[in-house]
Formats: sequence, C-alpha cells, structure tokens
Amino acid sequence: MKQNNSKINPPLWLLAEITYRCPLSCVFCYNPVDYAKQHSELTTSEWIKVLREGRKMGAAQLGLSGGEPLLRNDLEEIVSEAHKLGYYINLITSGIGMTEKRIKALKKAGLDHIQLSFQDSTKEMNDFLSSTKTFDLKKRVANLIKKYDYPMVLNCVLHRLNIDHIEEILKMAESMGAEFVELANTQFYSWGMLNRDQLLPTEKQLKNAEKITHKFRDRLGNKMKLFFIMPDYYSVRPKKCMNGWGNVFVTVQADGTVLPCHVASMLPGIEFESVKNKSLNWIWYESPGFNKFRGDDWMKEPCRSCPEKENDLGGCRCQAFMLTGDANEADPVCDKSPYHHKINEAVIASQKPKNFEKPIVFRTDKDSREIMHKRDKGQLELKTSRLLEKHSKPSKNKSRVGVV
Ligand code: FES
Repeated sequence: MKQNNSKINPPLWLLAEITYRCPLSCVFCYNPVDYAKQHSELTTSEWIKVLREGRKMGAAQLGLSGGEPLLRNDLEEIVSEAHKLGYYINLITSGIGMTEKRIKALKKAGLDHIQLSFQDSTKEMNDFLSSTKTFDLKKRVANLIKKYDYPMVLNCVLHRLNIDHIEEILKMAESMGAEFVELANTQFYSWGMLNRDQLLPTEKQLKNAEKITHKFRDRLGNKMKLFFIMPDYYSVRPKKCMNGWGNVFVTVQADGTVLPCHVASMLPGIEFESVKNKSLNWIWYESPGFNKFRGDDWMKEPCRSCPEKENDLGGCRCQAFMLTGDANEADPVCDKSPYHHKINEAVIASQKPKNFEKPIVFRTDKDSREIMHKRDKGQLELKTSRLLEKHSKPSKNKSRVGVV
C-alpha cells in the first residue's frame, strides 16, 4: 500500500553488497540461494552514485559486505568517496584478501571499522565450515586490525556444529584482544535455511552457550563486550525485522537491485527495482516493493488486532513466507500465529539426530546454479523452491558470478 511520503523515515543504514564473489562457501550464508542469477556488478562510478544519493537522503551508516568485499580492487576508492561524503564505514569481511598494503590504504581512505568473521576456534572446524584453509590467515588479519588501531570486532555465527566450542571461541577472542564479540546464532534464511536441520542447535546446547557467555561477561566486563544473539526459533515473540520494512535499512545488491532486507527478492509478486533504472530516492519512497509492508495496513489477523503489533510489526515477512507460503501471515515465531507449530516441529526435530544426517550444502556458484536448474525441472521441495526468486535464471558466466 502506498504511504504518504511525509510519514516515511529516510534510510539511515545503507548496506552495499558490493560483490557476490566469495572465496568462502559458508553453510549459513545469507546471500540469496539463487545469487548466481546475478550477471554483473555495479561499476565503481555506479556505486559512488548510489553512495551520493543515499547520503543525500540521510543515510549515515554504510556497511560494505558481500560476498567478500576485499575482492573488489576498487574498494579503497569506494571507501574514500564514502568517507568524503561523511558516512561511518564498516567493512564486513572474512579477511581474505587483506594485506598490510591494503589495510594501510583503507585506513588512509577513511575506513572506520572492520568486522572480522570466524567460523570456529580450531583450524579444522573453521576450515571445514567455510570450505577453505583460512584459519591462520584470519589470525594474521586480526593482528593487522590491531596494528592499524581499529577496534577489534569479531563475529562468529553459531550453530549446532560449533556452539559447543563457545568457551574455546571466547578464549581465542580474548587472546586476540577482541573488544567486541558478536555471537550470532544462525538465523534461518537462504543457505542457513537449506541446512536448517543440520544447523539448528538443541535447547540444551543453547542454554550451555548462554551460561558460558555470562561467565566470560562477568569476568571481562567492558574489556571484551559480548553480544549473544538467540535464534528466532527459540522465541515466542517475533523480532521487529529490519526495524520495520523500508523504515531505516536499505540493501543494494551487487547488481544494483535494491531490497528492504537481504533476502526479500524471493518474495513472489513483488518487483524490486535496480539503481540502474531508477533513483534510490524513488525506490525508497515510491516503489511498490518498498511500500508493500510499510506500516500496518497490510496486516491480517492475528496481527491486525494484536496489542503488540506496534512492537514487532508482525515479525519477519520473509520468515512468514518461507514457513507459510504467504508473506502477509504473522511470523510463525509468534505463538499467536496459526503456523507456530512449524517452529515447534523444527525445534523438536533438532533434538533427534536422524534429522541432521543429510549432507550439508555449501554456498558455491555451482550449487546456486544447480538449485535454479532443479527448481525449473520441478525437482525441488516446495519449502526449498520458496528460497528462490520465481524466475531467476543462472548468469551465463559460468566461471564466476558478477565480474565487473
Ligand atoms: Fe526479509 Fe525479515 S528478512 S523481512
């Protein structure tokens, strides 16, 4: 539903997913399952135009992510322009591609913040979960981050396969001098959803992980700030996803498609526009995609008459679609949703080893293409085909996705 423009807040957070190329193949990656549909990446000047527009509209925080943003040789140029425009710039990286020369150049260009991801505390598990040999390299990058006087911010996505190593993960973070550690449990979107049965931790694992996190928090206080983010599946109240659809957060994908969250391209019946064809300003304020779930006019029961609707805005539209087939439904995480049993069933299944014996799917270009082909041949389960944009087609460039 179209809203009165004067009631729409400007975007404050711009996430630029500048490339979907990535040397890692993380099993929980939030990039769309059909990301290999992307034929090209925005050029340097196209990104700079997006940054100018975003800043003019009021965006102040810029996240540079991917894929692996360091794979773009023009990252320094993009950072430099963003810095001149007055953004606070956060690089979200696996560290692969970071050298002393590059960190020096990024510092000079005005990069404010680096968030480095780890998969686990041991070389074996880190390298297995990312399908690469990168553990030692990440440690070297952590040292460079310290040397160049950045706050040390580590991120580790938790799931069934690494959550029992939380004590070692935190010890590793402490030994590296981390000032902030984000322990974000996998949320089940995209590749994480494909692997949900293997990744959803049990309640016992979660409670234990929380207990250990508290122990470290008590001992280290402000010296190392810990953020432990619970998986939605163990809640009964949904989150106010993205702080509201088209409210503060805008994502621009590698090819220029603009989304209200990382994965909304899978929602059927919504056309999301590209900055190649429309201005960011028009997309944010006027486009049907961004107005679709703004406010609460779209809600049906039980959300419509719920006294808590202002707090959570019905939860996550993408989660509602993935689990019910209808993005207008209440997020099934909510125990008032008639589909809440879907969450309970997944949690119960997580306690039974049989349900996570399936092979795990790594995020690769090849698998992304194959999944699209299988969808076209009707070989995908309904719940998996919901993770793909209805008409996505693999890009013609088979060796690599999105080369500029
Ligand atoms: Fe798309 Fe929540 S992830 S609305």
